[in-house]
Amino acid sequence: MALQLTPFLTSKPMKSLSFKLPSIANPSRGSPKSMSSNLGSGSTTKENVNKPSVPRREVNVQVTHSMPPEKIEIFKSMEDWAKKNVLVHLNPVEKCWQPQDFLPDSESDEFEEQVKELRERAREIPDDYFVALVGSMITEEALPTYQTMLNTLDGVRDETASSPTPWAIWTRAWTAEENRHGDLLNKYLYLSGRVDMKRIERTIQYLIGSGMDPRTENSPYLFFIYTSFQERATSISHGNTGKLAKAHGDTKLARICGTIASDEKRHEAAYTKIIEKLFEIDPDGTVLALADMMRKRITMPAHLMYDGCDHNIFSHYSAVVQRLSVYTAKDYADVLEFLVGRWKVENLTGLSAEGRRAQDYVCGLVPKIRRLEERASERAKDTLTIPFSWISDRQVKL
Ligand SMILES: [Fe+2]
Ligand SMILES: [Fe+2]
Repeated sequence: MALQLTPFLTSKPMKSLSFKLPSIANPSRGSPKSMSSNLGSGSTTKENVNKPSVPRREVNVQVTHSMPPEKIEIFKSMEDWAKKNVLVHLNPVEKCWQPQDFLPDSESDEFEEQVKELRERAREIPDDYFVALVGSMITEEALPTYQTMLNTLDGVRDETASSPTPWAIWTRAWTAEENRHGDLLNKYLYLSGRVDMKRIERTIQYLIGSGMDPRTENSPYLFFIYTSFQERATSISHGNTGKLAKAHGDTKLARICGTIASDEKRHEAAYTKIIEKLFEIDPDGTVLALADMMRKRITMPAHLMYDGCDHNIFSHYSAVVQRLSVYTAKDYADVLEFLVGRWKVENLTGLSAEGRRAQDYVCGLVPKIRRLEERASERAKDTLTIPFSWISDRQVKL
């Protein structure tokens, strides 16, 4: 999954019902939350040495199991459909690419030469690009959290870790496909010589320890809307990271990013198909779920990120990807517009009064977001420069 993001669309007050963009111009500002999770204060690196767990991260009030039992039955009744329509979006392992296809071959006598070439190509790429790429890699590396999330979902979770239901088969195989993304980016970055691997690895450990807070309430309606959004968003961001690598002269890195982006696209096809089917079976429940997720906003999976020193590392990273056009507020609006069209939300009929209100809300959201995005990008002109631990504290413009 992954990734990415709605960088600047994260961590909002839980009761806010109106859509608003946080200020990109002031990315260090904290956001209101409602409760704290985890252990330790984690306020300084020195302090963390004595605090082996993870820093306190404020999360929203945890709403669980909000989906009624009759809706759980819908997912049971969809199992044959899922076998035929969802599992087809997985690639057979023997046909899948592996990280090794893109990396120097350590068995080869030419290994050292290949590493040297990789490092020479990486030398031409600016630091801010590496901040964006490291953030993508860290997001991919928090995969245990995403598999955990899928296994919290009522009606589709893998009850045994080897359950034969199509939902469980999907979850395990999807995880196995995703696992290659973090592996490949991690190995590339390690070999590039451009980043501080230990501090990146520490960020990954913190992030997996913190989890995520997408507010999906154990509901596959909510979470599959979330994953539809995220897979498309991730495909866009990996695609843009690839285009930038090409512009900086590293066509091999461009291929890596493009290959990951096409996996995300395939995953998007599966998740959007599930929601399309839910719209067919239960249009009212599905449009209410879509409106609910859009009111909460789709947060980036890695929004609880911490590197051991910068408590706003996620906002800072998000500001960099926005500035580099790797993933922007415009992309968020584009993803939403695409999904609303893909699911033909405007054409839904036979809805309850509440369902019609949700439909109106969702259909009116894209122009609203676009207006806010224009205002936010005007405000974003005054930017700061800050050090990033991931690149040995070198300064990067936000
Ligand atoms: Fe994916
Ligand atoms: Fe991924």
